[in-house]
Amino acid sequence: MINVGIMGLGTVGTGVVELLETNRSTIARRLGDEVEVKKILVRDLSKKRTPYAEGKLTTRADDILEDGEIDVVVELMGGEEPARTYIKKALENKKHVVTANKEVISKHGKELLELAERSGVSLLFEASVGGGIPIIRPMKQCLAANRIMKISGILNGTTNYILTQMREKGWSFGEALREAQRLGYAESDPSADIKGFDAARKLAILSSIGFNARITPDRVYVEGIERIGPEDIKYAGELGYTIKLLASARRTGEGRVEAVVAPAMLKENHPLSAVRDVYNAILVEGDAVGQVMFYGQGAGKMPTASAVVADIIDAARGGKRIYCTCYGEVEVVPASLMTSRFYVRLKAEDNPEALAEICGALGRNGIGLEMAAQKGVGGGLVEIVMLTLWVPFGDLQRALNEIKNLKGVKEVANIIRVEEADEDGLHGGHR
Ligand SMILES: NC(=O)c1ccc[n+]([C@@H]2O[C@H](COP(=O)([O-])OP(=O)(O)OC[C@H]3O[C@@H](n4cnc5c(N)ncnc54)[C@H](OP(=O)(O)O)[C@@H]3O)[C@@H](O)[C@H]2O)c1
Repeated sequence: MINVGIMGLGTVGTGVVELLETNRSTIARRLGDEVEVKKILVRDLSKKRTPYAEGKLTTRADDILEDGEIDVVVELMGGEEPARTYIKKALENKKHVVTANKEVISKHGKELLELAERSGVSLLFEASVGGGIPIIRPMKQCLAANRIMKISGILNGTTNYILTQMREKGWSFGEALREAQRLGYAESDPSADIKGFDAARKLAILSSIGFNARITPDRVYVEGIERIGPEDIKYAGELGYTIKLLASARRTGEGRVEAVVAPAMLKENHPLSAVRDVYNAILVEGDAVGQVMFYGQGAGKMPTASAVVADIIDAARGGKRIYCTCYGEVEVVPASLMTSRFYVRLKAEDNPEALAEICGALGRNGIGLEMAAQKGVGGGLVEIVMLTLWVPFGDLQRALNEIKNLKGVKEVANIIRVEEADEDGLHGGHR
């Protein structure tokens, strides 16, 4: 019998308890042993819970952490503390730990994995990235023969839902966000999702594994989707692109990587542009395998429980464990030096002098254009939509700082990266 202690009985915790019960016999046959939930930590004992939790609830963490019969601790509370402290204590007490906590793993994964190794137990976190999509284990095991060159993905379902609705229904950002909140896809405080921090934590975890180096979320350059307007969606569509919040990391040379979470324009035939609504997808490029894509539900009660329960089975099964794979060092390239093509939308006075001054500022800063188009706005103003050639982000920012101070320019409304196929035929982005 494998005894499990669950810390947190919210959306995912409830899914895990129910899945362990409904698939009890299948899991027992696959594992060769029964899995039993012994205790469950919550804050509030008076809340109505799944009937499977009856008689198991506690509000004392030590009832799980100090219970000598509990083999696997499943942390599903979320947040950095006390989750990190509980995970640490469970590992010190030689219990396997399974968690879905991207915040703790992205910030403290290395120290916790090293502790797990010293204690001779597992620390597994498949559900922390991509919910139900298998991605951590495939990257650590199935792609272990490869040098990973690039990881790019749609790692946040809330923002993907918002951008999909803006594109398909013509809604504003605010309208799409309110609908996401009504459907339970976005939290009442949606800032971690829409500002890109949630995706940055997940990209940090994937990059650390893929590039064998410790890349924490604060090393990822992050932009959110709040500035995307219906105009951007419309102009992107006219140019044959879809806008996605893209999390992307790639090797740019020996010991150097770029890691970015930002809105990006993807050609409509790009594999990630077909990923709609709350779905997530991750495209991994290895030197031997080429591109592989992982697709599925990146959140939700049962998809996430699917990944957590698989980790419980894996931890219980034992065998040779894989610990921290981020043993190397890399330099993360600063955003100003990252090169990409960019879409820029400006509002300016409708006269030839304004346009000439804009072109002058671009030229002085070495910004070449692939295309520029003037769109009518009215009231003596026009919108100017431009696609640049490959330029360093810092050079473009310098040019736009000059441009926004020009007399005839009202606003630099948006700048969005353009993700294109590289010359070698693989889908690249910033390079
Ligand atoms: N929801 C998803 O779709 C999803 C997907 C992937 C990963 N995750 C990750 O999974 C984890 C859990 O997410 P969730 O959506 O299930 O969260 P949730 O619904 O907010 O549930 C959190 C649970 O933890 C308990 N809890 C929180 N702080 C506690 C504390 N200090 N002491 C004791 N109990 C505490 C709460 O107790 P009460 O019930 O008494 O309030 C609640 O049962 C997070 O790390 C999240 O990032 C979630």
